[in-house]
Amino acid sequence: MKTIIEVKQLCKSYRSGAAVLKVLDHIDLKIRQGDFISLMGPSGSGKSTFLNIIGTMDAPDAGEILIAGKDVTHMPENQLAEFRLNHIGFVFQFHYLLPEFSIEENVAMPLMIRGMQKHQALERSREMLDYLGMSDRGHHFPAEISGGEKQRAVIGRALINAPDILLADEPTGNLDQETGERVLELFKKIQKDMNQTFFLVTHNERIARIAEINYLLDNGSLIIKAKA
Ligand SMILES: Nc1ncnc2c1ncn2[C@@H]1O[C@H](COP(=O)(O)OP(=O)(O)OP(=O)(O)O)[C@@H](O)[C@H]1O
Ligand SMILES: [Mg+2]
Repeated sequence: MKTIIEVKQLCKSYRSGAAVLKVLDHIDLKIRQGDFISLMGPSGSGKSTFLNIIGTMDAPDAGEILIAGKDVTHMPENQLAEFRLNHIGFVFQFHYLLPEFSIEENVAMPLMIRGMQKHQALERSREMLDYLGMSDRGHHFPAEISGGEKQRAVIGRALINAPDILLADEPTGNLDQETGERVLELFKKIQKDMNQTFFLVTHNERIARIAEINYLLDNGSLIIKAKA
């Protein structure tokens, strides 16, 4: 399988007063297309920092990140925004759907930002909602649907541009156990159907187990965990 993301000697520290906190200390990582990776680690160990840097939302102090062969560490911000739109999907613990747009419009938004005609974008969005089992919710507004449905809509929006990687930070953290399980099953189905690559940050051991590759972030280092 081809390497889709390559992280080389990545470093990130935060300063507070005189103290320096080394959050990421010379991290190397290769992600292949279709990989399902989980990242665990104590609170404050730098999981979100790492995910945000991979997602080009934050810049490292040193090191390189290649996404689909492109060095994003030295890309100017105006190019990065477009790169992010076309190559990276995000799913966070709390949904960030736009309240004044319907679910159908929310899912279509990344396509419209890319310049696709509205009627065409909405048609693609409806196909996506259909795939997600939500075709009857397209005309509703975010405030009118359940937490699990909102998270599925967010997943649809993250997938609509066929990103190289879907980055998820505690995607089920705000859901009850059963709804969370269903979101995870959906991730697995998407991985299988679309050969989609996933990188999932979680505190939950059970959730981490659905990933095929498990990493632990501890003291600035990335450790691969053997499968139990
Ligand atoms: N902008 C910032 N300025 C200073 N310190 C920061 C900043 N962002 C994060 N940190 C610190 O860096 C460390 C890593 O934070 P991060 O949010 O990546 O942890 P995390 O592993 O995601 O934790 P959690 O599991 O609680 O979400 C923490 O100690 C945090 O306080
Ligand atoms: Mg975090």
